[in-house]
Amino acid sequence: MAARRITIWIIFLYISALKDVSSEFTCEIDNDVDSKVISCSSNDTSFNGNVVQRDKMADFKNATTLLLAACKLGVIDPDAFEVLPLLKKLDLSTNYIVQIIDGTFDYLTELEELNLADNFLEDLPVDLFRLNNKLKRLNLNSNLFYNLEVGIFDMLVDLKYLDVSSNLLAGKNWNPDIFKNIIEISSLRFSANDMSESPNNLLSSLKKLSIIELKNCHLNEYPTFLKTADLKTLIILNLKKNRIHKIDEDAFQNFEKLFLLNLSFNRIEYIDENSFKTLKELKFLTLKKNRLLTIPTGLFSSTYKLFLLDLSRNKITVIQDDLFKRTDLNNLNLSHNKLTYLQRNFCKQQKNTRAALKVFYFNHNPWQCACLRDLLGEIKGLGIKYNTTYFDGGQPVCVTTKEFVCKRQEHFNSFYVDLFDSTIPNIL
Ligand SMILES: *[C@@H]1O[C@H](CO)[C@@H](O)[C@H](O)[C@H]1NC(C)=O
Ligand SMILES: *[C@@H]1O[C@H](CO)[C@@H](O)[C@H](O)[C@H]1NC(C)=O
Ligand SMILES: *[C@@H]1O[C@H](CO)[C@@H](O)[C@H](O)[C@H]1NC(C)=O
Ligand SMILES: *[C@@H]1O[C@H](CO)[C@@H](O)[C@H](O)[C@H]1NC(C)=O
Ligand SMILES: *[C@@H]1O[C@H](CO)[C@@H](O)[C@H](O)[C@H]1NC(C)=O
Repeated sequence: MAARRITIWIIFLYISALKDVSSEFTCEIDNDVDSKVISCSSNDTSFNGNVVQRDKMADFKNATTLLLAACKLGVIDPDAFEVLPLLKKLDLSTNYIVQIIDGTFDYLTELEELNLADNFLEDLPVDLFRLNNKLKRLNLNSNLFYNLEVGIFDMLVDLKYLDVSSNLLAGKNWNPDIFKNIIEISSLRFSANDMSESPNNLLSSLKKLSIIELKNCHLNEYPTFLKTADLKTLIILNLKKNRIHKIDEDAFQNFEKLFLLNLSFNRIEYIDENSFKTLKELKFLTLKKNRLLTIPTGLFSSTYKLFLLDLSRNKITVIQDDLFKRTDLNNLNLSHNKLTYLQRNFCKQQKNTRAALKVFYFNHNPWQCACLRDLLGEIKGLGIKYNTTYFDGGQPVCVTTKEFVCKRQEHFNSFYVDLFDSTIPNIL
């Protein structure tokens, strides 16, 4: 961090020193007759302080799209956009911008899409967007924001998409009032900020969310702001790479439309049997790389549309024979677990009238050989896709005693797991 701040200062000094040098980037009208799309680029590898100036923009007064990504911009003159009243889309991403002066966007009253991602912004003037009430998409991804002031989004009554991922925002600094006017928001991306200690009513003004990204947000538990929010329209929830250890009964109580749930790379060891009760539209679920030992029997009893389930890289020892019977399961990943057996005719058991397994990964488990033989027989018979590379005979994949019988009782598990670990270590 310190290093990055120093870099910024160096850039700053550099910019100040070169402020009057003419811009080292070129802009061209893209193909069309109406001169509406303007693409700019810079081919200078050393210079990082280009200035966006009014005079240069004056050539493009019909522009509706201005693409200034990766133009080595350091400074935007506050009147630079005065000559572009028709602009709808402005891309300033991947530059070296450290500051945007209040009023810079005041001329852009038609603006619908603004991309400021991947710059060096630490904060924005609270009135910066006061005249951009047509803005629909705002991307602030990958900057150095540590705080966003209440009021900054107040005029953005049409905003649908907001991305604040990969900044230095801290949950405890969020004030829910920041969202009070942007009630049209449907996609909200917080990933890669520390969202622990966020207020419980963080999302209380938002009633139209369909996507929430909370990947890598330092969450030590399932966030209360998701339990209390009105998320009846939510379709995608991504909680990948956090430290959540349990899923309570009320976690998804409001989620009637949820379609994709990503809980991979957490520390989940407990999921309440009733926690998925409301998820009647859930189609894709990944619980990959958690600490599950078992799956509660009724967990999938009303996830009727579940199509893909990734339970790989857990510590699961037992899968109940009718666990998925009421779902549309097509693709199941149980690889890298602690299974030594499955019930007889496991795949047929899971079948319901609408659906049948088509893809099933069960490699990297400490299989009993007799059980594996039964399973492979069934899988091949039904033409289900599995990992043929792992089971190509090139490596040991199961263990057996002299007695070649599949023991389908839980209490034999630890014996076979130990036998596997001691006879063929380094496989799993
Ligand atoms: C870089 O851009 C300038 C104009 O901005 C042009 O004159 C020059 O030929 C370009 N150099 C290369 C290597 O493309
Ligand atoms: C802007 O558009 C008008 C009408 O479409 C056209 O006559 C004029 O030449 C354009 N101006 C520029 C700078 O391209
Ligand atoms: C996690 O969720 C996202 C949706 O935000 C999805 O696109 C992605 O494929 C998921 N990752 C894994 C490992 O399933
Ligand atoms: C299943 O999980 C393994 C990790 O154990 C992963 O490598 C693989 O891509 C997954 N396959 C599918 C089809 O989801
Ligand atoms: C299949 O098994 C091979 C060999 O162990 C492994 O390298 C590969 O990642 C596995 N593929 C999947 C999709 O699990």
